[in-house]
Amino acid sequence: MIHVTDVEPPGGSPYPVLCGNDLVAGLGTIWKPTWRRVALVADETTAALFGTDATGAMTALGAAVVSVVFPSGEASKTRATKEQIEDALLDAALDRTSCVVAVGGGVVLDVAGFVAATYMRGIDHVNVATTLLAQVDAAVGGKTAINVPRGKNLVGAFHHPRAVLLHTGALDALPDVELRNGLAEIVKHAVIADAALFDAVEQWAPVRASLRPPDDVVGRAVRVKTAIVARDDRDRGVRELLNFGHTVAHAIEHATDHAVPHGHAVAMGMVVEARVAVRAGAFPSADLERIVALFGTLGLPSVPTCTFGDARPFLGRDKKTEHGTLRCALPVGIGSAEADDHGRWARAVTDDELSQAWL
Ligand SMILES: NC(=O)c1ccc[n+]([C@@H]2O[C@H](COP(=O)([O-])OP(=O)(O)OC[C@H]3O[C@@H](n4cnc5c(N)ncnc54)[C@H](O)[C@@H]3O)[C@@H](O)[C@H]2O)c1
Repeated sequence: MIHVTDVEPPGGSPYPVLCGNDLVAGLGTIWKPTWRRVALVADETTAALFGTDATGAMTALGAAVVSVVFPSGEASKTRATKEQIEDALLDAALDRTSCVVAVGGGVVLDVAGFVAATYMRGIDHVNVATTLLAQVDAAVGGKTAINVPRGKNLVGAFHHPRAVLLHTGALDALPDVELRNGLAEIVKHAVIADAALFDAVEQWAPVRASLRPPDDVVGRAVRVKTAIVARDDRDRGVRELLNFGHTVAHAIEHATDHAVPHGHAVAMGMVVEARVAVRAGAFPSADLERIVALFGTLGLPSVPTCTFGDARPFLGRDKKTEHGTLRCALPVGIGSAEADDHGRWARAVTDDELSQAWL
């Protein structure tokens, strides 16, 4: 596995991010001898695909491994799953020197990370990311959470992992819809901070053999996030930029009862929000055209699948809304963004601006 970067969060210890096909070698590289008891947390899909390799590697490294497995999918990101994992850790007598090794997509990483944040008031965890979305987004940055009946990610903690392995070989097994979810986030990272990454995706997309992006694209995309987290790991400033497209995306997801996959909603959201900026004279229309064309090549949509009227009731629920005013994180062109005079990275957007940009 190759070393992609070290994350240096202001509120935590530095940790390495490795990328590649060899999970066993990756675990060997980042292993700490103090991890004598380990919980391997996975969903049913990732346990079947990667459980044997991961358990074998950790056993060979001298650890006693307990496996905790739950059904795949967002419906498992619950208090009940957290309890199930905690009870398994207690039964296996994991202590403060133990480690939780999460193997999976964002669901597994979020819930396992939250367990690690609170078990014995906080123990080590390692993220082994097996979906593209987890690799470029959920695995780094230290946000952990579960969903509760009142909403997504409402209960959680900031708790950085000790190491992150981006298991890019795992992407060969990942369905195209999940690859597109990750590709939308890669394009988002490119637009907010890395024009060369945008160029690279633009060059790769028309000639690709599959939707699995090259490892250097994955590495570049994750470095956009780690650079932002290094400046703001608690969501107080520049991290808002990572929400580009998401004010609109979340509303579309709600309005369509989550029939639209997350990455598709993010693509629609980026186009609408960038068009708001174009109309305000703050984003080149040629850059918006490049984004729309790239989404077309990747099989991602650019036009919302619900009306502005259907989405409007859900727009105000976005976490960036302040005193009833909608706010969007808006870059100023492909690869660049600027804070306003008050150091804010998201700006107020009116209903009229959004409805005119909806198309
Ligand atoms: N903590 C963060 O900063 C952060 C950031 C972004 C998203 N998230 C969270 O991540 C979650 C979404 O993550 P996701 O898109 O990875 O979803 P997911 O974890 O549900 O994975 C998607 C599906 O792919 C399966 N899968 C995983 N790896 C596979 C592989 N290699 N081959 C075949 N199938 C595989 C899973 O079992 C699941 O069915 C959401 O809950 C979201 O809130 C968190």
